[in-house]
Amino acid sequence: ETREPVYRIGFSQCTTHDAWRRAMLAGMEKELSFHPNVQFRMLDANNDSDLQRRQIQELIRQKVDLLLISPNQSGPLTALAEAAYNQGIPVVILDRRTTSRLYTAYVGGNNQEVGRTAGRYAAQLLNGRGQVLEITGTPGSSPATDRDLGFRQALRAFPQVKLAAQVEGNWQPASVLSRLPAVLRANPDIDLIFAHNDPMALAAHQVLRELGRAGQVRIIGVDGLPGPGNGLQLVEDGVLQATLLYPTGGEEAIRTALRILRHEPFLKDNVLGTMVIDSSNVGTMRLQTEALTAQRQDLQQQQLRLKEQMRRYASQKVTVYLLLGS
Ligand code: FRU
Repeated sequence: ETREPVYRIGFSQCTTHDAWRRAMLAGMEKELSFHPNVQFRMLDANNDSDLQRRQIQELIRQKVDLLLISPNQSGPLTALAEAAYNQGIPVVILDRRTTSRLYTAYVGGNNQEVGRTAGRYAAQLLNGRGQVLEITGTPGSSPATDRDLGFRQALRAFPQVKLAAQVEGNWQPASVLSRLPAVLRANPDIDLIFAHNDPMALAAHQVLRELGRAGQVRIIGVDGLPGPGNGLQLVEDGVLQATLLYPTGGEEAIRTALRILRHEPFLKDNVLGTMVIDSSNVGTMRLQTEALTAQRQDLQQQQLRLKEQMRRYASQKVTVYLLLGS
């Protein structure tokens, strides 16, 4: 039995239309299943910063007890996140950042580190010499800015590795399919592509295949999700040379939110690590995530059984009262 007060958490999510955001939500729901006293409402901004602003205003009007925000772009969302925070609503920023320090907590990866790790890995793979193409996320969204910064920074140590071209992929495969062919035709000597996420990396592979260059250009992505068609499988199948793990932070976000709501100690900045996943460790990674998923399913089964037992217990109590009463 829980005597905890009801908490209302509002979540402004920049988009829900990809495997990574679905995995984030699954992590949140798993964590929320332990807290039936939490009312959780997610609004999907569909990659639209203006819509996201209106949705955050709506959540503020509804007087949620805590706001979770994954801002589509930093600039357009900063003032509103600050305003909510200044009104006394705890604000937890997730994965993508605003440009301000006025928030209660941050949960997410270090995207400069993601970019640097990709840059070092790429340069080593090319033995310090070659031409690289970068496919970026949406301009003004902080992981795109930071992955690019980190990538360039790492390449500076390798003067013969040249960042020859860039394509704005907007985090979405469709943009890559339409824009990459022309850029590749104009740059016939590209040796490696760094795409800011795995879905864009897969789209790059499709374009290369159509141009008959799939075997010649190596591809590095970001996210490293388990499941069919996702990063781990793409690495196992040799479609990607590597992917950089980018944890969703769904579970951590809910845990942090609850600590804040219960006035328990919490960390302001919760930075999740990254690592390279390539053919040398992808098998281990897959086994680990499979074991984790199995554990999660066990947990959910246990919770269901527990609820069923509680129901039965409650009805037994009624029978006992009836017997005693007769
Ligand atoms: C999903 C996604 C991920 C990427 C992250 C960056 O919406 O594009 O693929 O790592 O967002 O915020």
